[in-house]
Amino acid sequence: MKQAPALPADDVDLRLSDLEQVCHLGEGTCGVVTKVRHRGTGTEFALKTSYYAHPNRAMDEEAEALRRCAGSPHVVRCHAVLSGAGGEPAYVLEFMDAGTLGDLLGRRGGRGIPECALAEVAARCLQGLAHVHSRGVAHLDLRPDNLLVNSRGDIKIGDFSVSRILHGRADERRKVSISVGSPMYLSPERFEPDAHAGPRGAIAADVWAFGVTVLELFLGRCPFLPPDGVRPSYVKLRQAICDGEPPSPADYACVAASPELRGFVAACLQKDPRRRATVAQLLAHPIVAQRHVEESRRALRQLIVDTLE
Ligand SMILES: Nc1ncnc2c1ncn2[C@@H]1O[C@H](COP(=O)(O)OP(=O)(O)O)[C@@H](O)[C@H]1O
Ligand SMILES: [Mg+2]
Repeated sequence: MKQAPALPADDVDLRLSDLEQVCHLGEGTCGVVTKVRHRGTGTEFALKTSYYAHPNRAMDEEAEALRRCAGSPHVVRCHAVLSGAGGEPAYVLEFMDAGTLGDLLGRRGGRGIPECALAEVAARCLQGLAHVHSRGVAHLDLRPDNLLVNSRGDIKIGDFSVSRILHGRADERRKVSISVGSPMYLSPERFEPDAHAGPRGAIAADVWAFGVTVLELFLGRCPFLPPDGVRPSYVKLRQAICDGEPPSPADYACVAASPELRGFVAACLQKDPRRRATVAQLLAHPIVAQRHVEESRRALRQLIVDTLE
């Protein structure tokens, strides 16, 4: 697949009028994402335009999260935040030509990602997550549909639309609402009425969502989604997550998981957030730390490219 040329200079003054629409990429609860091309340079971007304007710019936590989390190769890059006709923010993002990990699973027709390539996905997500947390941000909506992929084999954390800033201007620790996010990826404590957490709890919420994501990528479907694909009601889901045993790769006879992968997922899916693994511990886990880096990278890249042909 042809790569988009690099942006010639970082200080290119981007204006909405310089961006021509190429095609629709996706939409969610917060806005619509379009592939656009910069008329002057031909550079392609993903333009994410919110449906609504914020009452004031300082309230745009998505822009603030993207700004704080800039600089990691594992976080989607935001080149500029522009203003739409009605004052709604429009984020000029690097274009990821293979879509999301959710799209990738769809293109694999329900087959999961083998452990060798999955180790590389996990490593990159964890490195991205460590960076995001180190900048005082909790993502709070990690899932395959919010992890972006390109044909070079990069995986990047995207969609900071419900992310929360954990440290204020004077570096004070904030308590943030953690009841946001997609229900299938919520940890048990996030179902509490009006659930709030300080930085440690918000970060632990991301670790649970990451664990569900890894299991989904391995299985080819979300562990909280029955084989018939019919979404459980919110009440049923809350019951399964809060009252049931956490899901494990061992529950699925159809795919054999290594003991290391089982241990890795179990470390993420601890119902008590204080017992859940930290991102640093997961980075040191054999699945990630002892993977054969070259082989894992090659396997992941090949898997992505195969689905694009
Ligand atoms: N940088 C990007 N490159 C390619 N596609 C993207 C990019 N950002 C978003 N998308 C597509 O748009 C969809 C919605 O974007 P997202 O940021 O997740 O918004 P929402 O908050 O509406 O969920 C994604 O699921 C993906 O398909
Ligand atoms: Mg999204």
